[in-house]
Amino acid sequence: MTDRKQRILVTGGAGFIGSNFVLQAVAAGDAVINVDLLTYAGNRANLGAIEDNPAHVFVQGDICDPESMGRVFREHRPDAVVHFAAESHVDRSILDPGAFIRTNVQGTYTLLEQAKGYWSRLAEEERRGFRFLHVSTDEVYGSLGPEDAAFSETTPYAPNSPYAASKAASDHLVRAYFHTYGLPVITTNCSNNYGPFQFPEKLIPLMVLNALEGKRLPVYGDGQNVRDWLYVGDHCSAIRTVLQRGLPGETYNVGGNSEKANLEVVHAICDLVDGLRPDARIGERRRLIEFVPDRPGHDRRYAIDARKIARELGWRPSITFEEGMRRTVTWYLENSEWVENVRTGAYREWIRQNYEARLAQ
Ligand code: NAD
Ligand code: DAU
Repeated sequence: MTDRKQRILVTGGAGFIGSNFVLQAVAAGDAVINVDLLTYAGNRANLGAIEDNPAHVFVQGDICDPESMGRVFREHRPDAVVHFAAESHVDRSILDPGAFIRTNVQGTYTLLEQAKGYWSRLAEEERRGFRFLHVSTDEVYGSLGPEDAAFSETTPYAPNSPYAASKAASDHLVRAYFHTYGLPVITTNCSNNYGPFQFPEKLIPLMVLNALEGKRLPVYGDGQNVRDWLYVGDHCSAIRTVLQRGLPGETYNVGGNSEKANLEVVHAICDLVDGLRPDARIGERRRLIEFVPDRPGHDRRYAIDARKIARELGWRPSITFEEGMRRTVTWYLENSEWVENVRTGAYREWIRQNYEARLAQ
């Protein structure tokens, strides 16, 4: 991209997608102020490659804290905000919805307020160029039947999990700040991401690591729930495109045109791990698959209609599912130190909470 360089305030830039975005933006010549609370999901090791790069400033901070967020705006004077910070795991939202309301709803409100105060005092030209890009999800649209048309930007909201409901609430707040105050916001609603640095509570990295170690592979329900998978680097390039060319007040759906049933994804992982790390004691990894009790309220199918961003902004995914999966599995196999560092006592406790009873049945 040959667009103008920016000073971007990124929230949640030590998490999975946020850190991939920060690495991509800095490599492209942007400057980043990265605000992250470093919850269980945040990891500064993801940013090791730019640790000493002056184009990246890391601030440990909570988006729910108006004083520290106000200070970040005043001290760093960003041209744009890209807001990733959130509680992001559906299963955790079922066990502890309060954390999702706090960060995703209260935190987004706090950030919008601070952004509005800062933006309203900018000089005319800077005010016109300022953007608040809110990173959201396809889960706000609810669940599709097998023959339903994919989610478009005009699909009504119908969130089904506490996570999805908290993201829907944050999307509505963002929209309201445009209509009420004129804050130049843009929202992106993206499908399931996968790639390097994803915390191993999510389907793909969990299955890669369990397969590698010969552990059971817990597939919820009948394994026929469908997700639309997008390689994380493509999501980051979509966000950078929207930041440069998207229109304030608009929303853009982002997806991979790559619908897969969960069982198909797990089979692909098993075959890749078998090929890259054959182990006679474990045998064929597909034999480790176990169907376990379903996620309550489990959405059956997500699919994204990404024609608007293609037509209006010229963005399309560039990495196929096969290529993205090969890269991702290889990355987890080659980064065992990263894996060991994230699998702390807190992670082991989560695995016990979510899987012990399921696998005992
Ligand atoms: P993640 O859980 O890996 O990372 C979230 C980051 O936010 C972590 O670094 C965490 O420390 C930080 N954070 C949490 N609470 C905070 C707070 N109060 N203040 C500051 N920082 C805080 O999440 P992810 O998968 O990278 O998702 C990032 C964003 O993208 C989320 O908003 C999510 O809803 C959205 N999204 C994710 C996907 C996906 O497939 N992962 C798809 C579409 C949209
Ligand atoms: O669609 C976008 C969303 O994708 C994002 O907004 C979320 O932040 C992100 O976590 C993701 O949500 P999902 O619930 O779809 O992702 P997860 O990796 O948790 O699960 C993917 C599918 O795999 C889902 O149908 C549930 C299933 N699953 C998941 C786990 C963790 C299993 O069958 N077994 C498991 O152990």
